[in-house]
Amino acid sequence: MSVVKKYVAYLLSFFSGLQLSFAQSTIIPVETLHNALVLQVNAEKDVTIIYFGRRLSDRAEYDKIPSQLKQIGDYTGLLNSIYTPSGSRNLVEPAITVTHADGNNSLDLRYISHTLSKIDNDVSLLAVLLKDPVYNFEVTLYFKSYYQSDVMEQWSMIRHTEKANVMLQKYASANLYLKAGSYWLNQYHGDWAKEMQPEISKLTHGIKTLDSKLGTRANLFQPSVFMISLDKSSSEDEGSVLFGALEWSGNFRVDLEVDNLENLRIIAGVNNYASPYTLQPNESFTTPAFLYTFSDKGKGDASRKFHRWARDYKLLDGKGSRLTLLNNWESTYFDFNETKLAALLKDTKKLGVDLFLLDDGWFANKYPRNGDHAGLGDWQENKNKLPNGISSLVKQAQNEGVKFGIWIEPEMVNPKSELYEKHPDWVIKQTKRDEYYFRNQLVLDLSNPLVQDFVYKVVDSLFIKNAGIAYIKWDCNAVIYNAYSAHLTNQSHFYIEYVRGLYKVLAKIRAKYPKVPMMLCSGGGGRVDYAALQYFTEFWPSDNTDPLERIFMQWEYSYFYPAITSSNHVTDWGKQPIKFRTDVAMMGKLGFDIVVSKLSGNDLLYCQQAIALYNDIKQVIWQGDQYRLSDPRENSVASVLYVNQEKTRGVVFNYLVNNRYDQGSKSPLLLKGLDPVKKYSVKEINLYPGTTSSLT
Ligand code: DGJ
Repeated sequence: MSVVKKYVAYLLSFFSGLQLSFAQSTIIPVETLHNALVLQVNAEKDVTIIYFGRRLSDRAEYDKIPSQLKQIGDYTGLLNSIYTPSGSRNLVEPAITVTHADGNNSLDLRYISHTLSKIDNDVSLLAVLLKDPVYNFEVTLYFKSYYQSDVMEQWSMIRHTEKANVMLQKYASANLYLKAGSYWLNQYHGDWAKEMQPEISKLTHGIKTLDSKLGTRANLFQPSVFMISLDKSSSEDEGSVLFGALEWSGNFRVDLEVDNLENLRIIAGVNNYASPYTLQPNESFTTPAFLYTFSDKGKGDASRKFHRWARDYKLLDGKGSRLTLLNNWESTYFDFNETKLAALLKDTKKLGVDLFLLDDGWFANKYPRNGDHAGLGDWQENKNKLPNGISSLVKQAQNEGVKFGIWIEPEMVNPKSELYEKHPDWVIKQTKRDEYYFRNQLVLDLSNPLVQDFVYKVVDSLFIKNAGIAYIKWDCNAVIYNAYSAHLTNQSHFYIEYVRGLYKVLAKIRAKYPKVPMMLCSGGGGRVDYAALQYFTEFWPSDNTDPLERIFMQWEYSYFYPAITSSNHVTDWGKQPIKFRTDVAMMGKLGFDIVVSKLSGNDLLYCQQAIALYNDIKQVIWQGDQYRLSDPRENSVASVLYVNQEKTRGVVFNYLVNNRYDQGSKSPLLLKGLDPVKKYSVKEINLYPGTTSSLT
């Protein structure tokens, strides 16, 4: 009882009028190490959420929840539905809306059965089957819980055996229900070179929607990741906070509705914008997973839960290693040839990184890729720039003792290309309307199996013809305008089939090349999500590599994605010295995109020493726990600590982010995440040649 009282702020139970029939209710708790989501099946077989938050120590107390908090005013009995149907009793934002085979728009979903299976010691799967009492229409809700990391993946599978097709108008992945005095949304917005800008607001009654309708690089203006703090905006180490994210690389939609009982309804899934889905009898529609975790110890704890889960379960090769590299994009752009590249391969070795990454501009002959106006889609080596082909570059790299990686953007096409000339019907466009371009290019129709095969072969042929390619940078620079597929008969399936087609290609690539590192790039950081990160080892957060800007961006990305996923390159953006730039890039997966030959003797020496040092500490950064010590948005100092799992080694990165008079840390930065019983020695590392540490 006392425990129940303690967490009463998060207790939920709703009664419509006098329908109180606990005796016949079934309680289904889904517990992880610290949290619980508790479902109730009432006498009418409605399945509702009666509790979400910190796990109670006595499981039996969940049964008592419904009698602890009575909120009158839910006229429907469905405000806390586990998957709110529309067209019957419901009056609020639905999770699912359908038009049945007979044209009727009503849906009711009642409990039929549930199964709880243990996948292993850490992972469990709850499946709850719901059916409409009137129509042969069912939904199975899945809750995959990861015990140690307190993470949940939730999705649904929709099916029917009606006499004809059913139209799914809305088909969310998950529907949550939170209880607090107020709800504080931390959302993100952005644009090219301005990704992951946070914005905090108090949610008011009504619906706030986070969404994307861009089709590809769907995160350009807004990613699906968000935080909800309960009662007050959470800090790094305090507050109750939910982190959410949709595992989907296309259009998404997250509805956040504060209802008339002051509770927060969260409905997350694929965006139904222009996408009513026709479901045939016996066909199943499986939604992507909505991913979430909850912490009552602030944002830092929630982020470490996501990181652990990602490395253990989701991210491709999450426990593996990564390659440091030298990229040529900013040092040459499209202007290179074999002689220049030979010098860059030598520079790669001289610098001491693992790999040389050849960027855009190496392909196309009829319309050479000498700028971003032409050539995209024609993936043959440009004979003028590379008369001896990629294979000779791979060999040269091997001779230099470095690996070789290559840039591609296989989902895209320039109208000025042979690919476009040969296969205009492979291109997404409205044939009766003017073409409209994003970076002078269009998107290929990945809903078409022929295009899927083409894109797969772009990658496969590179590997076959050039054995030894050790890294791929997969770019995606355009959004989808004029959405139309010449292949699909049903255009309203287009946005979904595009993403499914993309995943089919990526799955096929990974079946043949399971671990070759691939960077997910999207004209900067327009694409990352956890569905894509099953196929990619890392992502490109932004084309903006000004280290000052990167401190802020990497800070925000790091709430959701572990450091090992973040490709950070040292470039010539920004005014800071090479040491500052390199330190910032070391907070993830280090790379360089600079003209090595123009570095001063000391700058080069510094970089070489920094790379050697990075090789020594990178495991702590990639696999350690991340603690944010000083927030650059609140202080003039940014400070981040990574501590290894054994708590024997840690690395702290500190930056002054405000150069105004008398800025700095006013009091000592307190370290976190260390073992109080252990004794640690502190040493300043990564010093610039000729300088000495101020720590004695
Ligand atoms: C956009 C990427 O973000 C850059 O790093 C670079 O690869 C260019 N595309 C090449 O066109």
